[in-house]
Amino acid sequence: MSNIAILCSGGDVSGMNPALKQFVEYSLQKNLKPYFVYDGYEGLIDNNIKAASYCDVSGIITRGGTKIGSARSKRFMEKKYRQIAKKNLDKLNINMLIVLGGDGSFRGLDIFYKESGIKFCGIPSTIDNDINGTDYCLGVDTALNIIKTSIDAIRDTASSFKRAFVIETMGRDCGYLALVTHLTSGSELCLIPEIAYDLREYEQKFKKEMNNGRRYFIAIISEGIKENSQEIATWFQEKIGIESRVSILGHIQRGGNPTVKDRLMAYKFVVNAIDGLLEDKHESVICYDRFGFNFKSIEEVTSKKKTLDKELLSYIK
Ligand code: F6P
Repeated sequence: MSNIAILCSGGDVSGMNPALKQFVEYSLQKNLKPYFVYDGYEGLIDNNIKAASYCDVSGIITRGGTKIGSARSKRFMEKKYRQIAKKNLDKLNINMLIVLGGDGSFRGLDIFYKESGIKFCGIPSTIDNDINGTDYCLGVDTALNIIKTSIDAIRDTASSFKRAFVIETMGRDCGYLALVTHLTSGSELCLIPEIAYDLREYEQKFKKEMNNGRRYFIAIISEGIKENSQEIATWFQEKIGIESRVSILGHIQRGGNPTVKDRLMAYKFVVNAIDGLLEDKHESVICYDRFGFNFKSIEEVTSKKKTLDKELLSYIK
C-alpha cells in the first residue's frame, strides 16, 4: 500500500471539503493510505499530518471552507523548512502529494519536488479563476452564485430607492468574477483591471438614462481596478447626480454551501489527480479546458498570467 497526502494552500474555496471527501474515498478504493496535512505547507513543516478515514469526511460535503485548514506559508519558501517538510513526509512513507491551491502555491511545490522527489499533483482552487492553463478553478461557481444572490438582494433595495449601488467583487487583479457577474446580473457598469476605462465616457449616457426615468444603477467593480469603490460611488453622486452606496462583498464570496457544479468538479479533479499520480504523471497540475481534463506542467501554469476569455470580454461593450 502506498501513502498519499492532501493539503489546502492559499485562499480557501467552497469545494475543498467535497474534494477531501473524494480524496479519502477514492484513495481507499485504489488501495492507497490517505493522509491529511493540516494548515497547508505550515502543517508539512510542523508535522501536522494525520491518517484520514471515512469518519473524518462524513458530513463535510455540504460545507464551505476546508476541514483541514489552509494557510499562506512564508516558511515554505525557505529551503531549511522544505527539508523539514520532506523529513516529515518520509517518516510516514508519503511519496505522493495533492495540493489544492492557486498558482503561488504550485510554485513552491515545484521547488519542493525538485529538491525532494515527492510526486505531486496540483488542483487549481481559487475563486479568482486566474490560473493559466485551466478554464475552471474549484470554488468559482459557488462564489459566482453567492455574488448573484447578494446582487439580486441589493437590486431589491436599489429599485426601491433612487440610488446607485457600487458592488465590489474579489478577484485580486483578475476581473473574471466581476465580468461574469456583470453579464449575468444585468448591471449598468462593469469595471475590471483588464479593460482600460474613462468614467467620463459614461456621464452623458447615464445622465440621459436618468432623465428618461431610470431610478437606479448597479455597478460591478473588481477589487483590482485603479479607483476604490468609494471613489466610484462619489463619481455617481457628483457627476451623475444620484445618491450612491457601496457594498464590498468581501469574504462572503469565499464561503457557503458548495454548488452542485463545485461538488462534481471536486470529485472529477480528485479522481483525475490520483489516477495521474498512479500513472506516474507527477510534477503537474490537473487542468480543465475545452478538451476536458488534462495535465499541464507547473511551468506552463505558473509562467504566464491568465488572460480573460475573449468571447466574454467581447460582450462587455
Ligand atoms: O485569492 C483569493 C482571494 O479571495 C482574492 O480574491 C482576495 O484578493 C484575497 O484572496 C484575499 O485574501 P485574504 O483572505 O488573505 O484577505
